[in-house]
Order: sequence, then C-alpha cells, then structure tokens
Amino acid sequence: TKRIGLVIVVLGASGDLAKKKSFPSLHALFANKLLPNKVHIFGYARSDMSDEKLRDRIKPMLKGEAIDEFLQCVTYVRGKYDAPEDFSALNELMQRKETEFDCARHGRLFYLALPPSVYPEVCTNLKVCADESPVRWSRLVVEKPFGKDLASSEELANTLGALYPESQLYRIDHYLGKEIVQNMPILRFGNMGFMAMWSAEYISNIQITFKEPFGTEGRGGYFDEFGIVRDVIQNHLLQVLAVVAMEPPRSNKAEDIRDQKVKVLNCIDKVRAADCVLGQYVGANGKPGYLEDSTVPAGSVCPTFASIVFRINNDRWKGVPFILKAGKALDERKCEVRIQFKEASGHMFDTKMARNELVLRIQPDEGMWWKVNMKEPGMSSKMVITELDMTYHQRYEGLRMPDAYERLILDAVKGDQQYFVRRDELRAAWACVDDLLHEIDAGKVNLVKYPYGGRGPPGADALAKAEGFVRSEGY
Ligand code: BG6
Repeated sequence: TKRIGLVIVVLGASGDLAKKKSFPSLHALFANKLLPNKVHIFGYARSDMSDEKLRDRIKPMLKGEAIDEFLQCVTYVRGKYDAPEDFSALNELMQRKETEFDCARHGRLFYLALPPSVYPEVCTNLKVCADESPVRWSRLVVEKPFGKDLASSEELANTLGALYPESQLYRIDHYLGKEIVQNMPILRFGNMGFMAMWSAEYISNIQITFKEPFGTEGRGGYFDEFGIVRDVIQNHLLQVLAVVAMEPPRSNKAEDIRDQKVKVLNCIDKVRAADCVLGQYVGANGKPGYLEDSTVPAGSVCPTFASIVFRINNDRWKGVPFILKAGKALDERKCEVRIQFKEASGHMFDTKMARNELVLRIQPDEGMWWKVNMKEPGMSSKMVITELDMTYHQRYEGLRMPDAYERLILDAVKGDQQYFVRRDELRAAWACVDDLLHEIDAGKVNLVKYPYGGRGPPGADALAKAEGFVRSEGY
C-alpha cells in the first residue's frame, strides 16, 4: 500500500455511521501507519459545512496519536446525491489531489455511509469518479441494509451489478471483521482435534447469541422498518453461522472461502414463524418500552427479539439445530457461539457426565473457553466441571484489538474481498429468512412482551431446551 496515492471519499460524512465508525477507523489506520503515505479523505454530504466544522465534528471520536495530522488530510465537499454535476466537481477535486500526489498508481475508495435508499442514484452518479484504468483502481464499500427481503435485495443487487462488477463492490458486514470470526478458519481447519469433532457425530447443538443491554433509544425510526431479524440475524449472525458451519475451503483465497459459505447457506432450510420465539420489550427497571420510544410508530408489531432454529441439510449437520438468538434491551452485552457436544457415556464412572461446551466469545472481552469434566484436585476422586480458558487480553498482554471496521477498510484498500459478502451469499442469507419476514410483516406472528433488562421471553429458553440444549447443573 506504500507506493500508491489513495483518495478516500466518505459519502454521508455528516451522518452517524461516518462519525462513529468510518472516520475513527480511518484515523486508527492512519495513526498506525497502515494507509499509504499519500492519502486524502473527502467527506461528502449535503449540509453546508466548512472543513473546520467537519473536523470539529469528528475530532471528539478520535483516540490516540496523530489526530491533528489526520484531520489535516480531511476536507469537506458539499454536494447533493442526485446531482451529476456535483459528482463531476468531486471528480475534479480527486484528480487535482492525484496530480499533487504524483504517484505511479492510484486508488479511490468510496465509503457509502448512507441509507441504501439512495444507493441507486449515488452509485449511478458516482460512475464518473469510479472508473478504473491500468493505473487506478476504484472500490465502493457499501453497508447494509441491502434491501428488506429477498426480492428487494435482488433488485438493489441488480441495479448495482449493472453499474459495477462484483470486484468493485465491497458489501461490509462488520461481524466478519471481528477477531473471533476471523480466527474461525484457523481454529477449525488448522487443528486436527477440532476438525475431527466438528460434526453431528459429536455435536448436539450450536447456539449463536447476540444480546444488547439497550433498546432502540432514538434509533427507532430506522429500526422499526427492519426489526431484529433484518438488523442482526439475516446478516451478522448468519455470517457467523456460515464460518462456523462451512466445509473446508480449497484454499484461503477469498473466492474459495466465499464459495463454501454460499454452499452451506444454501443448505439451510427456510425458517417460518413456527421455528421461532419473537418478542418486543416493554418498559421495566426504569427504562422505557419499545413503544414508548418517540421515534417508533404507535402500535408497532416489530420484533426486537428473536430466537430462531436453523437446520442445515447436509451430512455434517444433519440433526444439529443452530439456534440463533438476538435481542435488544436484555440483561447484558454479549455475543458468543456456544457449541454443545453430546455427553460421554460415563459408563465406567457410573454417573451422568456433563456435556463439553466450546464457547467462542466474540464480545465483550474476546476469548474461547472449553467446559470439561475433570477429577477434583487433591485426594478426592469426585468429578467436577472446569474450563480451559483463553482470554485474549490475558494471554496477549498489551494487545491492541483493532475495531472490525478498521480491518475491513484496510482489506478494501488492499483489494481483499474475503471478509466482504458476495452477492450470491447475500441472496442465500435472505432466502433463509424470507418466508419468516413476510409472516412477520403480515402480522401473523406471536409477539411476546418481555421486560427491558431481562433475559428475554422465557419461551426462548424452552425452545433451546426442546432442541436438546442442556443447561449444566451447578455451573
Ligand atoms: C448493527 C446493528 O449492524 O450492529 C445495530 O444495526 C447493532 O442494531 C450493531 O447494535 C451491533 O454491533 P456491535 O459491533 O456493537 O456488536
């Protein structure tokens, strides 16, 4: 990345995503000297703003070194999203920068921190800036939501696909930028032990859980249009499922890995309301209920919690339920993959053995632990449950864990699409939940009310139990 001149455009520069994620990640990459020396960032948006005002807006979100040097590389461009002439003006500014840089090769990265409703016009107008040539690449980073269901997602994909080849489109799913998710291929395919155990022969059930201790809090306008299934499960959790469940790829090249993810997603049976527990939080513990959020439409039947059983129809996973659970306004912040093994027979001990569990903790405090049975230490010969524990910050002291967005933006700069969602993957993930989403939209589902700050609807625990999950006693 050193010998090229890089011009980045953050479209939607005055928005929340740009402020909270795009600019801070760019700054962290800059401060860690991971971007080319010759770099410039244009913030593009409709508001009337000076360079200084944009810098003042993002500065409080930046941490660490080289903040002022970074901000010097950021300037503001005011433009409309539907005005081709504004994009021509942007192109001229980019060309001027490139002339100044005087590099042999150039890269242009467009980060669309914008609602997808404006993607079609923005991507059309961007064509003038995003041409490629032997000395220049151009890439577009786009964020979800990519549509609202299979049909609308396909429509958006067709529109973008008519404008740009797949190699220029980087569909971001920031869960693919998290440490534990990126560790999955090595963990699974670099360890003979795990490789041998990773199937229905030894595994009883897998739970992928996402919990947040806060509600929509002012984001209700966005959230209500989508709901928890589209917001978290269709994208983040199904992506995690894909890397946990895929068959071994031929190589670690982006296309080989993405091929396997698509294959396993295509093996998932479509889910229906009968496979789920859906919920919506109500006020409790001094916190307001979902319907009390002033940005939420009155009487909304949008789910803020879902626990869904997915079944993968292939030899490896026949009979192993994947229980994907996501909820807002719960008792804690947590995201983890919990792999519960079948119990050993225990015949020689004449007792029932507790099940082994391998827990991959995505956040907070990344780690992996494995629940095992062992002899109580000392004179005793009693059996006890303990865990083999690897917590990253303890094992790797002083480790700086980069934010998911940082890793993914750097991958986009390098042209590595491994951790971006390919078009056919996106399609396969929508297909699994499409029927369910239509049932929810038609109001044909049972929405259980659950209190803010609790564990969610009790039915979710019952569902996991019915699917074979055993909560170990005394643990
Ligand atoms: C976003 C969702 O994609 O992911 C949010 O829209 C959610 O609703 C967020 O809060 C969670 O991301 P993270 O990285 O904080 O777990």
